[in-house]
Amino acid sequence: MRHPAEPWRIKSVEPIRLTSPDERRAALSAAGYNVGLLPAELVYIDLYTDSGTSAMSDRQWAAVMLGDESYAGSRSFYRFEAAVRDHYGYEHVIPTHQGRAAENILSRCLIRPGHHVPGNMYFTTTREHQELNGGTFHDVIVDEAHDPTADLPFKGNVDLTKLQQLIDKVGAEQIPYVSLAATVNMAGGQPISMANLAEVRELTRRHGILVILDAARAVENAWFVKQREPGWGERTVADILREICALTDGATMSAKKDSFANIGGWLAVRDPRLAEQARNLVVVYEGLHTYGGMAGRDLEAVAQGIEESVREDSIRTRVEQVAYLAGRIAGAGVPIVRPVGGHAVCLDATAFLPSVPREEFPAQTLTCALYLDAGIRSCERGAVSAGRDPVTGENRYPSLELVRLTIPRRAYTQGHMDVVADSVIRLYEQRETLRSGVEFTHEPSTLRFFQSRFRPL
Ligand code: F0G
Repeated sequence: MRHPAEPWRIKSVEPIRLTSPDERRAALSAAGYNVGLLPAELVYIDLYTDSGTSAMSDRQWAAVMLGDESYAGSRSFYRFEAAVRDHYGYEHVIPTHQGRAAENILSRCLIRPGHHVPGNMYFTTTREHQELNGGTFHDVIVDEAHDPTADLPFKGNVDLTKLQQLIDKVGAEQIPYVSLAATVNMAGGQPISMANLAEVRELTRRHGILVILDAARAVENAWFVKQREPGWGERTVADILREICALTDGATMSAKKDSFANIGGWLAVRDPRLAEQARNLVVVYEGLHTYGGMAGRDLEAVAQGIEESVREDSIRTRVEQVAYLAGRIAGAGVPIVRPVGGHAVCLDATAFLPSVPREEFPAQTLTCALYLDAGIRSCERGAVSAGRDPVTGENRYPSLELVRLTIPRRAYTQGHMDVVADSVIRLYEQRETLRSGVEFTHEPSTLRFFQSRFRPL
């Protein structure tokens, strides 16, 4: 596959440095074999996340200078509000400093102890806030989403039978909302189809249950709908995004993803009473309801980023760069999640390192190997990320034990993608030499993957 040419040229560059193998060995040991604890200066190609790591455009940087830093009612807030309303279509827009802050406010507003929250696979911070408020998360995604080899166009879809069964079992009044992600991060960036979303809407409407969208990568989802779903090929991505949102009652957003911002997020809803409740909480946890933890300049950068995010050439380049990397890696026989998603190539660590048992965290082990080999930082998305069951205290072992190579938007070139592909292929060819994994030496109780430390076995 040819790498598509980018619809931009580079105006400003940031030096990065390839370290020596000795430097990397020392750095990884000092970081407790958790690449998340490495100083970024010692990382060559940083694929830890696509969150807040994208390159802002010259227009976004120019908008930063226009930021109005008034405490209340800043001009930048109104521009931000208009951009969210125009492109996502929700009436009430409440800024937050990032996505999990919106999840905190929403969960506090809607979830009570004993509630059940179905969703198309968990996301770490989203489920954490649901659980902190006394809710129990239920995964109602289609079974195929848990199978890295199932090559289907919409692996983010909800299994309506699972959703109906949960409603029958616990009662609609115990389900404050369905938590719907587009695309599904933990499944490898898999999209949900418009047809499935419409069916979820219809089912929830009959039972009076809200649908809340996790819109962090909804533009990527809209792109896949345009490419893959019959009847949508002639619509613009901007249109499809509005149609996705139209089937939901509100959204939480990390503007650090689709919107190319280094920081920022929002919660948006249609119900004025829920909006009032959320605004009251936002002033407690974030800041006044017209800045919500962001500076005026950040509100400007998000507003400009939203407009850029829905441009067809922009989203095409983004998704096709990910596909290029996937094509090279999969072409060499390396096991990855199929089909390739919107934001990342996910290595199937259990298939990559079959001799490392699940209890020794093969994905965590592989993130270390990638760093040692070429200074590449990837992200564990397996049992370490899944944490422990809050009731039993046992490790959760999700069927997907993945290493995510997450591609920041507009930041890396084809040359970087080739370095990554070469390293992954080299490690795969040497996989027999990687026979043992890691064990915890320090394990935080919440979102443990960020700060845990390990020891190689
Ligand atoms: N929802 C999804 C689907 C996400 O991927 C993230 C963040 C959040 C919510 C939380 O947003 O970081 O702005 O507070 N994902 C990043 C990642 C951290 O690397 O996947 P946030």
